[in-house]
Order: sequence, then C-alpha cells, then structure tokens
Amino acid sequence: MDGRRARRSCLAVPGSSAKMIDKARGLGVDQFFLDLEDAVAPLAKAEARDRVVGALNEGGWDGKVRSVRVNALDTEWTYRDVVTVVEGAGAELDTIILPKVSSPDHVRWLDLTLTQVERAMGLEVGRIGVEPQIEDARGLVEIDAIAAAPRVEALIYGPADFMASVNMRSLVVGQQPPGYDVGDAYHYTLFRILTAARAADVQAIDGPYLQIKDVDGLRAVGGRSAALGFDGKWVLHPAQVDAVNELFSPRQEDYDHAENILDAYEWHTSAAGGKRGAAMLGDEMIDEASRKMALVIAGKGRAAGM
Ligand code: GLV
Ligand code: MG
Repeated sequence: MDGRRARRSCLAVPGSSAKMIDKARGLGVDQFFLDLEDAVAPLAKAEARDRVVGALNEGGWDGKVRSVRVNALDTEWTYRDVVTVVEGAGAELDTIILPKVSSPDHVRWLDLTLTQVERAMGLEVGRIGVEPQIEDARGLVEIDAIAAAPRVEALIYGPADFMASVNMRSLVVGQQPPGYDVGDAYHYTLFRILTAARAADVQAIDGPYLQIKDVDGLRAVGGRSAALGFDGKWVLHPAQVDAVNELFSPRQEDYDHAENILDAYEWHTSAAGGKRGAAMLGDEMIDEASRKMALVIAGKGRAAGM
C-alpha cells in the first residue's frame, strides 16, 4: 500500500445533486466519486455531466481522491461521459470508475479513449487511473485479465448488481440468503476479487451497504471484507463514514506492534551485518515473512495518518 492512494472510505455522490456535492466536500472520506450511472436518471444525464465538470473545477476537495463513475459500456452514454468530463475537468480528476466491466476490452477502450482526450487537451497521458467494478458473473470469470489491463488502480466489488447477476436469493447486500446455512455466501466472490487484485498489485475495494441507518449491519459486513484484506469500502451516507474509516484502518495496537517488528528486525539484522535472517522481539520470533506482514499493517496505518 506504500505510495498508493488511501481508499479506506469512498463516498458515492449523485452527479445530479448540487446539494449532495456540496455536502460531500466536508466529509472525512479518503475518496469520493461523482456518479453519472445508477444514481442519475436517464433524462438527467446530460445536465449531470456539466454539474460534475463544474464541481471538479471548483475544487475544495481537500486531498481526497477525485473520481467520476461513468455509465457502463452497454449504454449509449459512456463515450460522451468520458469526453465531456475529461475535456472539461481532466486536470482535476484522479480516476474513472467504470461499472459492469465484463471484459478487459472495456478497460482497453477506456484507456485508448482517455489517451486521445489527454493528448488533445495537452494533459499528462496516463495520469488518470481506472477502477473497474466487478458486477456480474462474466466480470468475475474475466477478473485476472481485467485486473492486469492498462491504468487499473483498484478492483471494486458491486454487490447489488452482482447478486442480481447470479440470481442470489437475497435482497439485502451482505445478508446470507435464506436456505444457505453452510457458511458465507459472499466469501468466494470477495476472495476471488482480492486474489486477482493482489496478483496484479492493485487495490481491492468492497462496494456499498444499502441499509444506511443500520451501522451495526455495515460493521458486520464491512468487517468481513476488512478482515480478509480489502483496502476500503464505499459509503453512501455521512452516518457510514466513521465506521468504515475505522474498519479499514489497522487497530492502534496492531499498528504499534507492526512498527515495533519493523524496528526490531531492522536493528537485529543490521547489527549482525546483514548475516542474520531471524530475530527476537520479546518472546516472538520474527523473520522475513513477519517483516512482510508487518509492512502491510504499517503501510495501511501510515497511509491513514496513524
Ligand atoms: C454497486 O454499484 C452495486 O451494484 O452494488
Ligand atoms: Mg452497480
């Protein structure tokens, strides 16, 4: 995670709502995205594009990762979303979230389109990253190639669309479908996404929890993806922000322990002139593998400003 953008919490903001865009500026999230997809009605798409360009250019985003979710490639809106937003505000945009990606060709199309617009506008070519959403069975089957496609910085799980795509018998994201009582029905999908992300060295982000008043439910569902190793989760409402930031930051005691392991390992190995591979920290034996685990926790903590 060192040198990566922090993405513990990613706030979804309808691109059509001036009020919600203004409110988003003051929230303590690591990332936000202005949505042109499912939060915006078909007849409001054109106006929302202009509002999104205005909101990015106005600024005031306080170091947050600035993203826009364009429409999926099975609609007629995607190319105009990309051209309008990047021509109008490309220098003020960090990533594009591409929904319903079911093939690496979708990402390649976006990469080539972005390159064209960046060249035409005199923007740095390749600076704008891409975050594909994995939202259907095809996307999951193609996930390794999607993760390795150009500009990808993170894979995002889209649980609601995904549940619909596989006909899962549950209407509540994260809730176990009635009748499935042998484990966690979401485990395979989450772990598949996480593994593909790690193999391609990109981040893994969990999607939204739709019951916005149920913070305990959010903690239970988000706690599972956080424990697996995901880097962050979407938030839909201010009430979800603190819980998600907390879930995706290491616990203080784990962070302190990780920094101690790194210090002790560094000290012991350099004291031995680089000839010793293992060391002791109190009663704990630490070696190169412990150093790697500690680096993950310490990296997340440092990115979270601990
Ligand atoms: C998000 O886009 C979802 O489908 O859950
Ligand atoms: Mg979706």
